Amino acid sequence: MTRTSTGKPMQHARVFSKGGSYQEIVDSDMLLHKEVIATAISSLSNWLKSDQQPAMLRILDLACGGLPIVPSALMKAFPDRHFDYCGIDINSDQIADAKSHKFSPNVTPRLMQGDSWDPSTWSDCGPFDIVYIGLNIHHAVPEELEYLAQQLHTLIRMGGIFINHDFFRPTKYPYLRRPDHDPKTGISLSLISPERLKRAGYPLPQNPPQTPDWRENFFKPYIKTMKDRGMPQSMIDMTVQHVSEHDYPVTTSEWAKILSQHGFSTQEYAYPNSHEPLRDFFDTVVATRIK
Ligand SMILES: C[S@@+](CC[C@H](N)C(=O)[O-])C[C@H]1O[C@@H](n2cnc3c(N)ncnc32)[C@H](O)[C@@H]1O
Repeated sequence: MTRTSTGKPMQHARVFSKGGSYQEIVDSDMLLHKEVIATAISSLSNWLKSDQQPAMLRILDLACGGLPIVPSALMKAFPDRHFDYCGIDINSDQIADAKSHKFSPNVTPRLMQGDSWDPSTWSDCGPFDIVYIGLNIHHAVPEELEYLAQQLHTLIRMGGIFINHDFFRPTKYPYLRRPDHDPKTGISLSLISPERLKRAGYPLPQNPPQTPDWRENFFKPYIKTMKDRGMPQSMIDMTVQHVSEHDYPVTTSEWAKILSQHGFSTQEYAYPNSHEPLRDFFDTVVATRIK
């Protein structure tokens, strides 16, 4: 289980910490980080050309992890710009690792333990020109995504850009909603309390429809890829447990629609030509605040 009775979901997730499986998964590009770096660089390049952007750019990285691989490569690709980087992660191990990461000389890093879904604890770092989220929104139900989009609208300045690499559900599968509580332990899986969601105007539905679990179609190629790349069974089990407990993605278009309803113009990037077996499950959404 990747939550303690007192912590928030994934605050003590072994999968991301030292000895966890996540580092190996990133290193082998299973989740398409390399492809996303290319998308992020070309999107930022176009964005920088599109307007008079300041020489010093403020960038927020939510759920940054111990290795902020995409933002780090992105900032390095623009050596004539200076980046004021703020990385937030809920896991203290990840923040400790990220603090020892060697950023390029054009970056002033600031790393803080905090909850991506509760900006009240760190929003004084903003407003931001750029917000990046890598692989975190797939844990949320649609009401939590609405709340996140509302927060992004206040965190990102007008004309600013949002880049999100995530696990998305292919459109051929029906939406599977995350349970409010872990069925085995009864511990809450909510990223945002129902009360806060209600106050923000996004009450949780009373009796959401039950649908079949399509994620077997993701587990099969994921497990095979991890095996083929020599990951030990214990790490494979850890990864599968994490995904089955926490991952309930929406589709790329469903997320883009929510962002567009909150004042963003959006662009979706898929990677059908990648050789990676999980290419159909990982996309990038790039959004610009236009209202
Ligand atoms: C899949 S890793 C992604 C790391 C990195 N962003 C990337 O793209 O590779 C997810 C990270 O999210 C962090 N995390 C999970 N829930 C979080 C939350 N509510 N607030 C902040 N960080 C969170 C975990 O500690 C972990 O480091």
